[in-house]
Amino acid sequence: MTTDSRPRVLVADDQPDILQALRLLLRGEGMDVTTAASPAAVAAALGEQEFDALLIDLNYARDTTSGKEGLDLLARVHAVHPELPVVVMTAWGSVEGAVEAMRRGARDYIEKPWDNARLVAVLRAQVELARALRRSERLESENQLLRRDGMPELVAESRAMQPVRRLMERVAPSDANVLITGEHGTGKEVVARWIHAASARASRPLVTVNAGGFSEGVFESELFGHVKGAFTDARSDRVGYFELADGGTLFLDEIGNLSPKLQAKLLRVLQTGEYQRVGSSRTSRADVRILSATNADLEREIAEGRFREDLLYRMNTVEVRLPPLRERREDIPLLAAHFLRRRAAQYGRRVEGFSPEAMQALLDYPWPGNVRELEHTVERALLLMHGTQVQPADLNLRPPMDGAAVLDELPLEEVERVLIRKALQRHDGNVSQAAEALGLSRSALYRRLQRYGL
Ligand SMILES: Nc1ncnc2c1ncn2[C@@H]1O[C@H](COP(=O)(O)OP(=O)(O)OP(=O)(O)O)[C@@H](O)[C@H]1O
Ligand SMILES: [Mg+2]
Repeated sequence: MTTDSRPRVLVADDQPDILQALRLLLRGEGMDVTTAASPAAVAAALGEQEFDALLIDLNYARDTTSGKEGLDLLARVHAVHPELPVVVMTAWGSVEGAVEAMRRGARDYIEKPWDNARLVAVLRAQVELARALRRSERLESENQLLRRDGMPELVAESRAMQPVRRLMERVAPSDANVLITGEHGTGKEVVARWIHAASARASRPLVTVNAGGFSEGVFESELFGHVKGAFTDARSDRVGYFELADGGTLFLDEIGNLSPKLQAKLLRVLQTGEYQRVGSSRTSRADVRILSATNADLEREIAEGRFREDLLYRMNTVEVRLPPLRERREDIPLLAAHFLRRRAAQYGRRVEGFSPEAMQALLDYPWPGNVRELEHTVERALLLMHGTQVQPADLNLRPPMDGAAVLDELPLEEVERVLIRKALQRHDGNVSQAAEALGLSRSALYRRLQRYGL
């Protein structure tokens, strides 16, 4: 269900004229209304359909005003659907009835004869609140699914990862904003989840927003919410991610893609903790820790006028830089084994690991797509392999690049290896022809083939 869908309200009263009046009123306010004339009809309707709120009268039999039947109904509903907001209608301003109803789980009450505006406002507020809670609970349970024992698995034993690990451990418990940088697939999101899980906010939501994934207008209302009528499609109020993350962590992914206008808005929130829903002039506050990630070179973006320096300064109180996988090769065997184990369990396959040649191939490969590419390679091998041990052919590793851009980032030896491999491929393994193409003598090429184990 989306937050913008029509609120579904169940209205219960035993007087047909009252049901009729409420139906007209609430339909006119854009709500879906179901009516029930008795407690039994309420139970039946709840069994059939999901509702966003319940509006019930406390008095059912016309000869009694004790409200007992209504209170019993309330207690039963509350026992079975504790999350469903129930608003009660009390007769004659009966304060005792209202108090007792609140005690039994009603969220609010309306006095009869009711005031239309107040009734609508109370119902809307309850619907909105319930939806926000449901949504953050859902996000929370999704987060929990992603964690094992609360922490995402993070393989980081290599020398290059030790300082990164120490920094993460130091910074996680603080409330400092952290910018996580690194090439595609280096594990920025895992690090964000790890930091949140190791923080004092771990039991609160971690809300992830892909800043690159929205158009400017949509992003603002996703982030800060909007009020009904703020724009054509805003049929009801909507809670933004920022508010949902209150008390928890907001992870802004792909931060390099933010438009200048959004950068300005975000800066203001980071400076003050205050924001406004789109279409509202009311200022709200939220206590949110910001983690952000990018694979863009923000220093360069700043130099070229595309990213605000003051915003970067707010976000990178601490910067965690993830080295590319080719600079932490000791982690390759651990990561490969980790992914193989996980996928084998997932697909119910029995595997004994990698042959020495396959492992060597993994170690030799430059991994332009970093950990994610390794993960995909292992998964594909697992699905394609015939034996119980992964062989080099199962990995299907090709010299990865055509673009000089990627070559630029490799150590010289790696470049040489790649060029030799490509030349050999082009000439179907004919060493003389490959040597000629590379401007080497046959023996010089042979020496290199030996050195690189090709
Ligand atoms: N150190 C690690 N230990 C275990 N798994 C990892 C590690 N690093 C990355 N992974 C896994 O590799 C995959 C890619 O990681 P992730 O999505 O965090 O990368 P990213 O840097 O956010 O990538 P992109 O820049 O493309 O968004 C994920 O499935 C993640 O679980
Ligand atoms: Mg990512």
